[in-house]
Amino acid sequence: KTSIIYIDKENIDIDRLEKSAKILKNGGTVAFPTETVYGLGANALDEDAVKKIFQAKGRPSDNPLIVHIARYEDIHRLIKELPEKAEKLINAFWPGPLTLIFKKSSLVPKSVTGGLDTVAVRMPSHPIAKALIELSSVPIAAPSANISGKPSTTKETHVLKDLKGRVDAIICGGDVDVGVESTVVDITVDTPMILRPGGVTKEELEKVIGEVEVDPAVKNSGAGEFIPKSPGMKYTHYSPNADVILISGELDNMVRGIEELRLAKESEGYRVGIMATDETKDKYKGGAIISVGKRGSLETVAANLFKVLREFDEKGVDIILAETFEERNIGQAIMNRLMKAAGHNVVRV
Ligand code: TXA
Ligand code: MG
Repeated sequence: KTSIIYIDKENIDIDRLEKSAKILKNGGTVAFPTETVYGLGANALDEDAVKKIFQAKGRPSDNPLIVHIARYEDIHRLIKELPEKAEKLINAFWPGPLTLIFKKSSLVPKSVTGGLDTVAVRMPSHPIAKALIELSSVPIAAPSANISGKPSTTKETHVLKDLKGRVDAIICGGDVDVGVESTVVDITVDTPMILRPGGVTKEELEKVIGEVEVDPAVKNSGAGEFIPKSPGMKYTHYSPNADVILISGELDNMVRGIEELRLAKESEGYRVGIMATDETKDKYKGGAIISVGKRGSLETVAANLFKVLREFDEKGVDIILAETFEERNIGQAIMNRLMKAAGHNVVRV
C-alpha cells in the first residue's frame, strides 16, 4: 500500500512530486530526502496526520517533531516572536541543516510539539524537500525516516526497509549529503543553546551570533547526570542490532585496542565488525572491516555513519568495535551519534 516514487534530484519530475504533495495535503504520510537524512513528513497543522507519523515510527508521543517550511514568510504564523539572533542565523544558514526552537503560535498543534510551548522549525535545502513542501502548501512535520531507536536513514534502501508498508508514499531521491541530522538550537534563551549537534557546527554558529552554549546533557554525551532539554535526546537512539563498543585514545592505541578486543570477543564466539577509517582499515587483521570515511575529512565520516551502522547489521555481526573522533566541528555531531549508538559504552586505551 506504500507508493514508491523515484525522483531525480537533478531533474525533478513535477508530476510525480505533485502526487506526493497531494498525499500530504490529504493528511497522508510521505518519506522524502533532505540534505541531512531522509524525513517522514505529514501536514503539521493536521493532528490526525501527525499521529500517523508517531504510529509509523513507533515514536514516543512526547518527542516533538521539527516543522519544515520552504519559504521564509511561512515562519511567521508558526511562532510568537522572532529574536534578532534567530534572524541572523536564518540569514546565514537557511535553507540548510539548522533547526531553531521558537515560542510556538496557537496554530501549531501540541501533538507536534510533544506538549511543549515551543516549536522547532527548519528550512531544508534539498531540492526535492523544498519542492515537495512548496507544492504541498502546508508546513510539514518530519522526524527522521526510521523506526524509532534505529539509525536514521541516508539512502533509499534503508528507508524502504524501515517504512515500506507503514507509510503512504516513499520518495526515493538518492543518497543524502550531510548524513547527520540538523543542529537544533534553542533561541528562546539569552545565550542560544545547542540541544543537538548536527550539520551546522558550533564554530560556524559562533561566527554569526557570538557565544553559543551546548546543553550539558549533550556535552558529556549524556552520561546520565543531566536531563537533556531536547526530549528526543533521552531515548535510545541510532542503535543497530549489534552491540556497539567505542574505543578512544591515540590512533595507534585505538587500532591496537580494537585488535585485542576483537580477538577476545572472537574467542568467545562472537562475530565482530570493525568500524575503521580509510587511514586505518588496512591495519586490522580480521573481523568484518568497514571504513566509515576519511579522518582527514570528517564530512565523509558524517555522510557514511548511519549507512555503515546499518551495513554491519546486514552482515550479521554481533559486536561493532568503532574508532572514535575528535569532538571538534562536525566531529561533535559524529561523536554524539556514536555515543548514543553505543549506549555510552566506551573503552579508553
Ligand atoms: O535533519 C533533521 O533535523 C531531520 C530531517 C528530516 O529534517 N529531522 C530530524 O527529526 O532529525 P527528529 O524528529 O529525528 O529529531 C528532532 C529533534 C529531537 O531530538 C527532538 O526532541 C528535538 O529535535 N525537538 C523538536 N522540537 C523540539 C522542541 N520544541 N524543543 C526541544 N527539542 C525539540
Ligand atoms: Mg530521529
